[in-house]
Amino acid sequence: MTTDPLIEKFQQAGQGHVFAFFATLPPAEQRRLLDEAAEIDLAEIARLTRTLLAPGGAAGIDLGGLAPAPYERRPENGGDAAAWDRAKAAGEAMLRAGRVAAFTVAGGQGTRLGYDGPKGTFPVTPLKQKTLFQVFAEKIRAAGVRYGRPLHWFIMTSHANHAATEAFFAAHGYFGLEQARVHFFRQGRMPAVDLQGRILLETPGSIAMSPDGHGGSLRALERSGALDLMQREGIDTLSYFQVDNPLVRAIDPTFLGWHALQGSEMSSKMVPKAYPEEKVGLFCAQGGKTVVVEYSDLPMAMQQERDAAGQLRYLAGSIAIHLLDRDFIRRMAAGGEGVALPFHRADKKIPTVDAAGRPVKPEKPNGVKFELFVFDALPFARNPVVIETRREDDFSPVKNADGVDSPQTCRDDQRRQFGRWLRAQGAAVATDATGLPAAGIEVSPLFGYDEDSFAEAWKKLPPAPSIRDGLYLE
Ligand code: UD1
Repeated sequence: MTTDPLIEKFQQAGQGHVFAFFATLPPAEQRRLLDEAAEIDLAEIARLTRTLLAPGGAAGIDLGGLAPAPYERRPENGGDAAAWDRAKAAGEAMLRAGRVAAFTVAGGQGTRLGYDGPKGTFPVTPLKQKTLFQVFAEKIRAAGVRYGRPLHWFIMTSHANHAATEAFFAAHGYFGLEQARVHFFRQGRMPAVDLQGRILLETPGSIAMSPDGHGGSLRALERSGALDLMQREGIDTLSYFQVDNPLVRAIDPTFLGWHALQGSEMSSKMVPKAYPEEKVGLFCAQGGKTVVVEYSDLPMAMQQERDAAGQLRYLAGSIAIHLLDRDFIRRMAAGGEGVALPFHRADKKIPTVDAAGRPVKPEKPNGVKFELFVFDALPFARNPVVIETRREDDFSPVKNADGVDSPQTCRDDQRRQFGRWLRAQGAAVATDATGLPAAGIEVSPLFGYDEDSFAEAWKKLPPAPSIRDGLYLE
């Protein structure tokens, strides 16, 4: 009997144990295992074992020469109001010209929320219980109407949630979007390895594979044909956001304008950190480049440092909202010497099998997952721009089942936003000291998806409704 060449390659790479149970598997499982194995770049695994798994490989990042990154301040915080106005006009022109598409990374596993199903199918709005996907879909649809150019929307899924995500959109009629403008593609996967770099089996017939991180989106956008589609359609800018944040201005002309006017290849939004321990990445400068340092990599003493005015020195929190230039994504996806996102190592408890093929549920981390982070593209980008945004306009993620960044805090933040928009139009909205309206209210993105669009729609109402519990504006 001849051995499959792929199995031989694994044997030569010291990973032959992946096929330890191969002969005992039914043909369909054999095929599946071979398919999984074919996804693996053995040279890459060997390189990561040499670098990230070697002694000291788990040590954090190099903090040498780190300083806070510069950013564009909002006008009320000392920024140049005329420059912000110019940016908005430029961004609106881009939208009218159809140069922009939306992009959601939705391949994460959502373990912290404890929700079974694609995270985008989680209900988040205060009254109507609209799902995350519906909120984004309606924002994108409304922006398309407003600027006279319907937008394309790319959604990155994982192997685990791809089919369920597609089925969800189909079952809901794509939330009123044209099906031909909603594009799903799967992100890549990486095998988990043990602490010696041996690829872990999840069962005798399958490898412990997991998504390769949101940074995998750059190569997945290329592989899936998304970049070609953008090129054909004359789209040069991708508005990137995470699936967990329904407050995001999915399409923000001012942000787009800053990006375009500065000739940036990758732009980002920051919010001033709410408190030193807040778990967000931080925009920093290092060696003339912009970088994001994860909170877990920055010593607490640095996170607590304050300047002479008493303000946090490392203030610029990353809320994972970016604009990406199409040709920049292509360049990053192509890689090449010195142009590659670095993998990060995460030590995890990874269910696996023992030498006899029996399941093992580890009690402490027994292996490592490798992930790419999209913000690691920043140091490769020409003229990266970081602009300040107000948290209440852009950021209230759903990450945990309770406490901070939970469904409750997110619903409250949405209600606060609706309350602010209403009050700005002169409506009498009773709120508590935190700005939370007493009444349960909701505004559909199809009515207004940001302060400007809301104001326009409100002014067109025949008699403005009185603010009462259960008020839904559509
Ligand atoms: C992330 C950022 C953090 C930022 C915060 C803001 C990282 C490492 N950290 O933290 O800097 O301040 O968001 O909310 O990114 N995803 C995929 N594929 C994957 C992994 C994740 O598509 O393989 C998607 C998820 O679906 C989600 C997003 O990426 O939309 C964020 O993932 P998550 O791992 O939850 O990031 P956080 O740790 O919350």
